[in-house]
Parts: sequence; C-alpha cells; structure tokens
Amino acid sequence: MTTIVAQIAPQRSTQYGALASTLAPYELQLSRLCNPTAGVDTLEMGGQPYLKFEMAAGPDENQARELGMLATVSAFFFYYERLGEHTGPLLRPIETRFEPQFAPEIVMTRRYKGKTNEMFTHFLCNVARFSSDFAHRPWQNLRVFDPLTGGGTTLFTALVLGAEVAGVEKNAQNVQTTAAFLRQYAREQGIACKVKEERLKKLGERWWFTVGKEPPRQFVIAKGETAQSADLISGFKKPHLIVTDLPYGIQHHSALIALLAEALPVWASLLMPGGVMAFAWDSTRLARPEMIEVVAQESRLSVIDAPPYNALAHRVDRVIKQRDIIVARRV
Ligand SMILES: C[S@@+](CC[C@H](N)C(=O)[O-])C[C@H]1O[C@@H](n2cnc3c(N)ncnc32)[C@H](O)[C@@H]1O
Repeated sequence: MTTIVAQIAPQRSTQYGALASTLAPYELQLSRLCNPTAGVDTLEMGGQPYLKFEMAAGPDENQARELGMLATVSAFFFYYERLGEHTGPLLRPIETRFEPQFAPEIVMTRRYKGKTNEMFTHFLCNVARFSSDFAHRPWQNLRVFDPLTGGGTTLFTALVLGAEVAGVEKNAQNVQTTAAFLRQYAREQGIACKVKEERLKKLGERWWFTVGKEPPRQFVIAKGETAQSADLISGFKKPHLIVTDLPYGIQHHSALIALLAEALPVWASLLMPGGVMAFAWDSTRLARPEMIEVVAQESRLSVIDAPPYNALAHRVDRVIKQRDIIVARRV
C-alpha cells in the first residue's frame, strides 16, 4: 500500500477554495484511484488543506496521468509518517505526467458575467467520464457536448483535456464572442485554426472550428434552441459525454421543467450508448427527488443516485444557495 497526499487545488477566492475542499474527496473516490475501503481523510499541513488516501501500489504512468487530470486537487506526494530517525510527516513529490492538449489558460483568460467556475466545470467533466463506460479511454478519444453552452467553459475545459467538443447556445452574443475569442486566441498563440461559418436554414448559425494539429480537434458552436440540438450539431459524431450547467435565472420551476421536457429526449438521443450526461442546477428551485423524476421520465437515462452521487450538493454563493449534480447513464 502506498500512502499519498494531495493538495487541494488553490483557488483565487476563498469561496471556491471551500468548494474544492468539499468536492475533492468525491472526485478521488469516483476516479477509483484511491483504495475505496481505506477511504479519503482530510488533513492540514503548514496551514494548507490536503487529502490523504491509499493506493494499492504505484502510481504507475497511467495513474500518474490520471492524478494530473483531477480538477479539485493539484499536487501529489508520497506520505511518510517517519523515515529512519526522522519523524514526519515527510513528503516526496510525485510527477503527474498529464500533458494538456492546449494550455489551460484558454479557459481562464475568457472572462464574462454568468461564467461557470472553471474548476467546477472540470470536476463535472471528470465525473461524467468516470461514470461512463469510457472511464479508461483517453480524452483524445472522447467527444463532449454542452447543450447550454453559455460562453463555452465546458467546451474550452474539455478541449484542454483533449476531447472534441460541440455546444448549442441561444444567446447570439455568447456564441459570437466565444467564436471570436477562439479565433483570436489561436491567432495570438500560433495555434493552427480553420473555421467554417454556416447559416442553417430556420435553425440558426454554426461555427465549425478545427484547432491544433496533434491531433486536430473539432470545436463546434451553434446558435439556436437546445431542443433542436440534433440538427444544430448534425455532422458532429455522437458525444460520449454531455456536460452542462442549467440556467439559474429561471424564476418559476415550471419553466425549467418545460425546458427539460423539451430538451432531455433530444439530448439523450444524441448520447453514445455507455455515455453519461452530467449537469448542475440550482436545487433550491427544483429539489433533487423531483429532478431525478423529470430526468428519468423525459430522458429514459438511468440516473445514478448511489453514494457519493447523492452527496454532491453544495453551496455556491448568496444567490445560488444550493447547487446539485445529476449524473445519468445511457445503458
Ligand atoms: C448557466 S448558463 C451556462 C454557462 C456556461 N457553463 C458558461 O460557463 O459560460 C446557461 C445557458 O443556457 C442558455 N439557454 C437557456 N435556455 C436555452 C435554450 N432553450 N436553448 C439554448 N440555450 C439556452 C442561456 O442563454 C445560458 O447561457
């Protein structure tokens, strides 16, 4: 048995630092990197929060890469209670070996109102992959779809991890600024970038990017209604993962249910068998049991509600007092 400690990923604000601490044990557990029977402990060293867990051996090269892809923890160390006459704790760094497809700054540099926290989005992408039949596939072999793209946090996060991505968003400004940002970022960074702009009859518009070289990645963003996602992203192969953050401004929960009733059957039909849909929503407006019922009924996907999936609810800020996460599989 190897004992490892992981530093909670430092965040710019204390609010998100607390979020990382809350979600980190669950992310580790779902990654299956830690020995489940030994569990995950929290500890503090030098005033910094860490998680302590056991791995059967290793980490081998693959596990070291997986550790580097976690969202809520950032630096990893072998942990020794003592070494010879030296009493610990003593730490030895672990090289994580994860090489992002594109620099993570692409997610950070785009700033706008209503952006979903980057670390949380990365967490959601990981949870979706861990819960799917594709948990052992490299991100380069996965496609991710965000049917409520906003300004593209999910798309940029999954692109950095290595996936090919597609998104649908009804707000024209969000879509145009996302497309303009990608084009400008690629130009400034000297990244190969081809773009095809298309007008889709009666549906909306679409920007079809091919970015990078090794391998080239598709980045598709369409302006339109999410219930028309099948047509809006036609040509993009079926996604393995659907990852999204539901709108928070909707005042009446009947409006949110109406959106889901229209959209869920379409989203589910797009998903690859063995794939997973994971989304976050404001669970003070629509309680978890009701959301599970809506998702199960409208999508016919199988909602996973076993621990720790049923313990992922957390506080965001004064406006979103409780956000929760639904994970559902296409069996
Ligand atoms: C919570 S935001 C997503 C934010 C995104 N994760 C980001 O970081 O930019 C939800 C988005 O859903 C979009 N939306 C709401 N209803 C929609 C619909 N019927 N079709 C397409 N997009 C919709 C909103 O315009 C909003 O941008």
